[in-house]
Amino acid sequence: MSAPDEMTLTDLEPERAQFLAEALAGLRKPRKEFPCKYFYDERGSRLFEEICELPEYYPTRTELGIMRSHGHEMAAVLGPRCRLVEFGSGSSEKTRLLLDQLESPAGYVPVDISREHLLRAAADLARDYPEIEILPVCADFTRPIRVPRTKASADRTAVYFPGSTIGNFTHDAARELLAAVHGEVGPGGILLIGVDLVKEPALLESAYDDAAGVTAAFNKNVLVRLNEELGADFDLDLFAHRAVWVPDPGRIEMHLVSLARQGVRLGDEVLCFEEKETICTEYSHKHTLAGFSSIADDAGFDTLQVWTDPERLFSVQALQAK
Ligand code: TRP
Repeated sequence: MSAPDEMTLTDLEPERAQFLAEALAGLRKPRKEFPCKYFYDERGSRLFEEICELPEYYPTRTELGIMRSHGHEMAAVLGPRCRLVEFGSGSSEKTRLLLDQLESPAGYVPVDISREHLLRAAADLARDYPEIEILPVCADFTRPIRVPRTKASADRTAVYFPGSTIGNFTHDAARELLAAVHGEVGPGGILLIGVDLVKEPALLESAYDDAAGVTAAFNKNVLVRLNEELGADFDLDLFAHRAVWVPDPGRIEMHLVSLARQGVRLGDEVLCFEEKETICTEYSHKHTLAGFSSIADDAGFDTLQVWTDPERLFSVQALQAK
């Protein structure tokens, strides 16, 4: 239906000024932090795909396995003529397992913050699924987005949110995001979501600090971006990647640790770092099934069905808006 060259992109990619403002706001805090959506520029998106292939990083292959084994059941829950919206679509690899099973989907709307990456993935999908209308949206999905209308009329809207990206939100923020999705899909609408589960801390820590150092390069890429795009002067050798499991509230925290007392220029400011002071770059919350179901309930969703792998490392859940 839509060839790559006639596909329309809705472009809401955040601009440089906003990048600087958000970076400074986080780095001025007493406990320095950095907004995690800025991980995913071209290079970051590529490194993240490398992470997904690492032996230590169990979530991607486990979730893919669940999609392969249960994709047909998920498609049955979504029903025919569904308009599928994906948050943080990346390379859309898991989505293909769903699109392969869906009955006459009304269209697919991939939403991602990394423009080039999004366009390439959308063009590949348009080639492989010529009968499905693909409507890419370049946006930060944590802000309200107007989802473009598909040409075909839809019986229902479903949001697909894989990759345990929900884990990158605190419980309060997760509740808010789910409530926003509720508004998006409307009563009866479905949220199909990948949720990573609580497990052995050693397994978690190695998943976020691999032997080959890809995760470290991914984490440090935010400093590369600050240097290249905003003219900062971070010395990459004076920061180290660190991932730690924090049992309450149950999350892996990613930090960049300053290896010396130092000053770093960003915009018109010099940011001071003590030795061992950290920038917190990401949380990755792990949930229990009961814990997540209570978050979903607070946001107005019933848990319809939960699929897991035999080792119960990961879950894919179908939630229905009440
Ligand atoms: N959503 C992924 C996760 O939390 C993102 C991720 C994987 C990540 N490895 C990372 C984010 C390392 C920051 C640093 O599992």
